[in-house]
Amino acid sequence: MNYSLEVKDLAYAYPDGTQALFGVGLAVGRGERVALLGPNGAGKTTLVMHLNGILTAGHGTVTVAGTPVRKDTLKEIRQRVGLVFQDPDDQLFMPTVRDDVAFGPANAGVRGEELERRVKNALDRVGMLEFADRPPHHLSFGQRRRVAVATVLVMEPEILVLDEPSSNLDPAARRELAEILRSLEVTVFMVTHDLPYALELCERSLILSGGVIAADGPTRTLLADPDLLAAHRLELPYGFAIPAERG
Ligand SMILES: Nc1ncnc2c1ncn2[C@@H]1O[C@H](COP(=O)(O)OP(=O)(O)OP(=O)(O)O)[C@@H](O)[C@H]1O
Ligand SMILES: [Mg+2]
Repeated sequence: MNYSLEVKDLAYAYPDGTQALFGVGLAVGRGERVALLGPNGAGKTTLVMHLNGILTAGHGTVTVAGTPVRKDTLKEIRQRVGLVFQDPDDQLFMPTVRDDVAFGPANAGVRGEELERRVKNALDRVGMLEFADRPPHHLSFGQRRRVAVATVLVMEPEILVLDEPSSNLDPAARRELAEILRSLEVTVFMVTHDLPYALELCERSLILSGGVIAADGPTRTLLADPDLLAAHRLELPYGFAIPAERG
C-alpha cells in the first residue's frame, strides 16, 4: 500500500513530564482525506506536530511518503507536509501577508515572476489577494487563518495537515475552504471539532482520546454511534441529523 502517512507506536511526553501520546498507530493512503477527532487535551495537536518534525518521537516512528521524519530529513519533510497550525499567530511572522506567503517557496529557491504568480494564486484561492500588502497582525483571526492556509497551499505539498481549519471562519469562508480542500488532489489530514465538516470532507475519521486511537472507520459510521461519541466527549451540533447517503 502506498501510504502518504504512517505513524507507528508513537509515544511522547513533554519536558515537564506530561505524557500526551501513548502509542499511536495510523496510516493514511495517498489521496485520502482523513479527519482526526477527539476531545480537548486528547493529544491531537501533539500528534500533528510530529508530522513535520516540530516535535520528534519519544518512541515510535512517523513516515511521510516513505521518508522517515528525522533530523536529517527535515528539509524534505517540510516541503512535503503542509502544516496549518491551530493558531495562525504561530505561522505568520513577516511584515506583510505577501512576504509570509512567499517565504516558503523563496526558501525553496523559487524566484521572480514564478514566485509572484504562485503567491498571487495562493492568496486568491483563500480570498485574501487584496490584503497582500497588509501586516498579518492587523488582520482578523479568520483572515489570518486564511493567510496561514495560503502559506501552505503555495508550497504545493503532498499532504496537507490542518489543525482545526474551520474554527473562527465565517460560514462562507468555512464553505470556501471546504471547496479548496476538495479541489486539491492531495492527501488531507484534518484535526477538527466540527463534526459536520469532517462528515462533509472526510470519508474516514479517527478518534484520538487519552493519547491513543480509540476508533478508526467511515466518518458516517462513527458519527452515527451515540455511545462512541459520548465516550469521547464528541457532540453533534444541536439539531444536526446525519443526512441520507447520496446515491
Ligand atoms: N508544551 C506543553 N507542555 C506540557 N504539556 C503540554 C504541552 N502542550 C500540551 N500539553 C499537554 O498534552 C496533552 C495533549 O495536548 P494537545 O494540545 O495535544 O491536545 P489537543 O487534542 O490538541 O486539544 P485541543 O482540542 O484543546 O486543541 C494535554 O494534556 C496538554 O495539557
Ligand atoms: Mg489542539
